Amino acid sequence: MSAPEIHPEQSVELLKALHILTRDGKLNQDSRRKLKQVYHLYNFIEPLLDEAFTSSADPVLVDHGAGKSYLGFILYDLFLKSRPAGRVIGIETRAELVKGSRVLADKLGFHRMRFYDLSVEASMSSDRIPARVNVVTALHACNTATDDAIRFALARQAQSIVLVPCCQAEVAAVLRKHKAASLAQTPLAEIWRHPIHTREFGSHLTNVLRCLLLEAHGYALTVTELVGWEHSMKNELIVARRTGEVRGNARERLGEILHTLNLDELQDRFNY
Ligand SMILES: C[S@@+](CC[C@H](N)C(=O)[O-])C[C@H]1O[C@@H](n2cnc3c(N)ncnc32)[C@H](O)[C@@H]1O
Repeated sequence: MSAPEIHPEQSVELLKALHILTRDGKLNQDSRRKLKQVYHLYNFIEPLLDEAFTSSADPVLVDHGAGKSYLGFILYDLFLKSRPAGRVIGIETRAELVKGSRVLADKLGFHRMRFYDLSVEASMSSDRIPARVNVVTALHACNTATDDAIRFALARQAQSIVLVPCCQAEVAAVLRKHKAASLAQTPLAEIWRHPIHTREFGSHLTNVLRCLLLEAHGYALTVTELVGWEHSMKNELIVARRTGEVRGNARERLGEILHTLNLDELQDRFNY
């Protein structure tokens, strides 16, 4: 392989299937950037997988809202393929994508990958997924699927959770519903008075609430940017590692923020 960016052990067939390499096996400017982004994300996840192997002989990574499962495939190819154990499970509601991933995994001989045509919520009670998992990822899982993924990760005692949230409309809708009351109550409501600010603040606030929830459950966080990911505006990356040390005031602050912003009806979603 002539392109220096491609690791010698990487599957050329996979990179072609993911359109990172062209059909004749070349990298173009666009795919070079794509590959750089993939490695950028991989750098965050690799140490989490290393850690998972120190506590489990056969760690399980569950990828929610997997889409075409490019993340699972890249992780399997770069990390798990050369090891005798470790599994990837992709959860995705679109049956045709699940089918496509199964076909590709078979073709590549990636035998420790499984794909289920399930919603994140339904996967919570699926007995096809081990009771404990090591790593949970959710990249651009739509709307509240990220929140379901967090609930799943907490229930299955994940050691680490990697989230790149998508747009989230639920908090903005509740901010909107109580806007008049909030404006009468506090000048802070100016922060979300204009519709575009309601949407953006709602989205930002959602991630703040998710972070507090994770801290209340004993996770230490890195909140950063996933540079230039897929041309998306939604580039916030939340990496959570379970340390067991609960941030003392996280739960209380979470509750107070929801109450102060007239979002009490979301207490069950974010404060559990
Ligand atoms: C924007 S795509 C992201 C796909 C992939 N994670 C990526 O980053 O390329 C979001 C995917 O999540 C799936 N999805 C949305 N809501 C879901 C849910 N509640 N449970 C499972 N999958 C869901 C959609 O079908 C879609 O394939």
